[in-house]
Amino acid sequence: MHKDTPQHYGTISRLFHWTTALLLLWQFTTAFGHLLLDDTPVGDFLWSSHKPTGLVIIVLITIRLAWALWTHPRRPAAINQLAAYGHYALYALMLLIPALALLRQYGSGRSFTPFGIPLMPGFEGEAIEWMTLPANVLHSWLGWLLLAMIAGHIMMARAHRRSGDVNVLERMASKR
Ligand code: HEM
Ligand code: HEM
Repeated sequence: MHKDTPQHYGTISRLFHWTTALLLLWQFTTAFGHLLLDDTPVGDFLWSSHKPTGLVIIVLITIRLAWALWTHPRRPAAINQLAAYGHYALYALMLLIPALALLRQYGSGRSFTPFGIPLMPGFEGEAIEWMTLPANVLHSWLGWLLLAMIAGHIMMARAHRRSGDVNVLERMASKR
């Protein structure tokens, strides 16, 4: 049940996939809160969970990626080469986006205590520019790119289902 087979994703892979999807849905809600509702109570409330949620996402994706690599030989093959590259790109962005942000957080010298855990104590003095620059330039753009790719991913899953070739949604969404 919990293992993947070439025909179907097992419970663990499906749990990883849908938990990540829910967390990213929340993460983009907080990003829209920042973009559109800045300095309002709702915007502040949403934004307050952006960094901790981002941390949870990077931890989850690291474990998910290790699981995907380990079970790779028996997982369902992507429907074509383009789909495979699309999935690699989703994984890469889900890792890179929070990683750059965490690097910036460290380099800024500001403390970071998600869920009360003193992860980064912060430091006195100047920010470390090589650590802050990549996220300053790329973090939000790559974030919106990921959102666009997720929209494409969902559309392709629906298209494959309609076109009558392999029902990819069934193998990710339902029990065997
Ligand atoms: C997969 C995880 C993440 C996604 C998809 C994501 C996405 C985004 C997006 C789309 C924006 C732009 C919001 C706007 O235009 O106002 C943004 C901004 C921001 N994010 Fe994230 N984020 C993630 C993780 C993190 C983490 C882990 C941190 C910090 C530890 C963080 C810190 C920030 C900050 C400080 C900003 C505002 C400055 C900027 O636009 O670069 N994010 N994020
Ligand atoms: C945040 C949103 C999402 C992300 C980041 C994401 C990412 C991924 C990734 C990386 C895969 C490759 C399989 C794996 O290694 O787990 C995958 C498979 C899949 N996803 Fe998503 N997904 C998201 C949301 C959705 C949604 C909402 C749907 C529903 C339409 C969906 C439908 C599928 C299907 C059907 C597969 C299996 C494809 C196949 O069998 O070749 N995904 N997804």
